[in-house]
Amino acid sequence: MREIIKLNQISKVYNHKQILDQVDLSIYEGQSIAFTGHNGSGKSTMLKIIAGLVRPSGGKVVYREKLLFHYVPERFPKMNLTAWQYLKRMGEIDGIPGKVLADRCEKLFADFFLTEMVHTPMKDLSKGTLQKIGVIQALLRRPQVLLLDEPLSGQDMDSQMVFIQKMNALRAEKVTLLMSCHEKYLVESLSDTVMAVGHGQVNKVDITAELCAKEYILWFERQKNASWPEEYRPYIQIAGKGCRARIPEHESSRMIVEMIRHGWKLRGMSDAQV
Ligand SMILES: Nc1ncnc2c1ncn2[C@@H]1O[C@H](COP(=O)(O)OP(=O)(O)O)[C@@H](O)[C@H]1O
Ligand SMILES: [Mg+2]
Repeated sequence: MREIIKLNQISKVYNHKQILDQVDLSIYEGQSIAFTGHNGSGKSTMLKIIAGLVRPSGGKVVYREKLLFHYVPERFPKMNLTAWQYLKRMGEIDGIPGKVLADRCEKLFADFFLTEMVHTPMKDLSKGTLQKIGVIQALLRRPQVLLLDEPLSGQDMDSQMVFIQKMNALRAEKVTLLMSCHEKYLVESLSDTVMAVGHGQVNKVDITAELCAKEYILWFERQKNASWPEEYRPYIQIAGKGCRARIPEHESSRMIVEMIRHGWKLRGMSDAQV
């Protein structure tokens, strides 16, 4: 794999507090890294430093080549523009022809269940909806490096699943994904590398070991023409009009995708009590 970005001894101090302390990290083309960690651990700072939006207090970020970045912030500024006006303007700046832009937006609005909200001023939209708009903006012009700050928080399950599919399509096209993510059960379906940020350090996490230990309970509701995915049949119990499954964490996101494909709707999810 080709190294495209290298962090050399990156440090960041805010108000005398050491947020990052001499962090070294290599980022490779097509890699998908999830940064996890508690609130305030430094995930957003890390992404902003990589994107060149925040200057480190020490150390250097080396870009091996000229890269097209796209950064989706955790929170959008409140704007009077509607989603459609915003994306139209951004698309124009990116040089996307009007008709192409309108078609792509229409398709993506539908994919993300946003069609009814595209003419609402962005200041009146929820955080999750604004993030979807940020993601759509990124998808309009495929960047080489896509940075997403907590892209899944505040989104409903159906949107999360669409998001996972879109991100995995980008991964297949060698787009490098760097994101911070709180939702541990989604990390595995989006990333090949998990980095724990905390105490100034950024350390690689062995996801399989972490995820194998845990199980989830999932509830699904039957939709019209639902069928059973054979491979998950052993995990499933019928419960009322729907069903319930107990499944190891590392299998859960794939099962959700399969169940949705087989005509089920995810209704709930919780940690299984050991
Ligand atoms: N612009 C800033 N000025 C001062 N302190 C900041 C600034 N940005 C972040 N911090 C502080 O740095 C720490 C890490 O923040 P952040 O990177 O946003 O963490 P995370 O994204 O993991 O929640 C927090 O203690 C936060 O208060
Ligand atoms: Mg953050």
